[in-house]
Amino acid sequence: MNSTPETTPDLLDKVTNLAKRRGFIFPSAEIYGGFRSTYDYGPLGVNMLRNVKQVWWQSMVQMRSDIVGLDAAILGPPAIWAASGHLETFTDPLVDCKKCKERWREDKIDGVCPNCGSTEFTEPRAFNLMFKTQAGPVEGEGATAYLRPETAQGMFTNFANVLSTVRKKPPFGIAQIGKAFRNEITPQNFVFRTREFELMEMEYFVPPADADEWHRYWIEARRSWYLDLGIAEDQLRLHEHAKADLSHYSRGTTDVEFAYPWGWDELEGIANRGDYDLTQHAKASGVALDYFDQTTNERYTPYVIEPAVGATRAMMAFLLAAYHEDVVEGESRTVLRLDWRLAPYQVAVLPLSKKSELESVSREVLEFLQPHFMCDYDITQSIGRRYRRQDEVGTPYCVTVDFDSLEDRAVTVRDRDTTEQVRVPIAELLASLRERTGQS
Ligand code: GAP
Repeated sequence: MNSTPETTPDLLDKVTNLAKRRGFIFPSAEIYGGFRSTYDYGPLGVNMLRNVKQVWWQSMVQMRSDIVGLDAAILGPPAIWAASGHLETFTDPLVDCKKCKERWREDKIDGVCPNCGSTEFTEPRAFNLMFKTQAGPVEGEGATAYLRPETAQGMFTNFANVLSTVRKKPPFGIAQIGKAFRNEITPQNFVFRTREFELMEMEYFVPPADADEWHRYWIEARRSWYLDLGIAEDQLRLHEHAKADLSHYSRGTTDVEFAYPWGWDELEGIANRGDYDLTQHAKASGVALDYFDQTTNERYTPYVIEPAVGATRAMMAFLLAAYHEDVVEGESRTVLRLDWRLAPYQVAVLPLSKKSELESVSREVLEFLQPHFMCDYDITQSIGRRYRRQDEVGTPYCVTVDFDSLEDRAVTVRDRDTTEQVRVPIAELLASLRERTGQS
């Protein structure tokens, strides 16, 4: 277990400001004064968020023969959420401050109103976090629908479809990335807890006797994923939930926690959901959701191990972990030391000046790299300023085209972290960048 991290409240402000200033994350509907803790992902943010999802998909689906993907509907009928237990139990305890009338989640405020300091509250009542809407033009009972609060249920309701179409047998998994919606009472800390967010979840179906072993396996696999992507070991720890704190479906949950600026908090949860969901849906729908093992002649309902993380929350953790300030050649700079797989741009092509002869070689270099890397192209300001701008958004490599390039057909490659610069022939540029990013 790692010790309590030093809290660094100004880091959250710095990253939030950088995210806004450099086009990662904007408050949504800002021209109308913003909208209740929702966010829009800007030109750099959308690249980075796609990268987070891509790296997750690559490790969970592309690199595995035992896991397949799914993209299920966001809207669902009440029957799903009745069977899953969400209609009844997906609630948070809501209290009103008797003095200032603000509403809070009781378990997050330690008995003191964060707004006015009062300690007098109404009795807590269960507030369901699901967004309710109506499907079709006619209002009424039969038209009620819910926005999914987790992607998981689509994987349980499609269990038989997947089993019969891809011929997998336990242990096997179904993975999904998609939007989820929760009417959080107190959304907070930038994109850490929002009402609309993106989830990356995988349901791994196993013989019940093997569930504990697979649970341990996925806890370690998921922790390693963050380490591999550059989060330091001392910024992560595992936290096993006490029995009393478990979600209604869980037999055991371990969180991967991250050292946020406000202290340790949840990054990802890895739950053993047992046979809860398949059993509930089989009972409610009348469709058998079990597995017949022909080798042992046994029919059983698999247990489910579920690693689940918000793509948006993971992106925030990667940004916080990558943020550094250092001094280069006597000048202070801000640098995002993002793994190249996560960086919004992997390469920036920078002509030394705006002169047209440089522009044509620079465009040639850009077009030659674009099929292989996400590239930025910047011709404004001094080269020093442009390096700083790229450092600040985490671009691992800058490729500078200068007047010598016209003669020697070579460019300068600058490394974000070391700021070291080397001359590389254009003909060898792709191989050189591939080698630097561990792709050859
Ligand atoms: N299917 C299991 C499930 O949804 P959860 O612990 O409620 O479990 C999984 O959520 C993950 O989703 C969390 O570990 C967190 O990364 C992310 N998450 C949950 N609520 C969120 C919110 N309101 N905003 C952003 N991310 C959230």
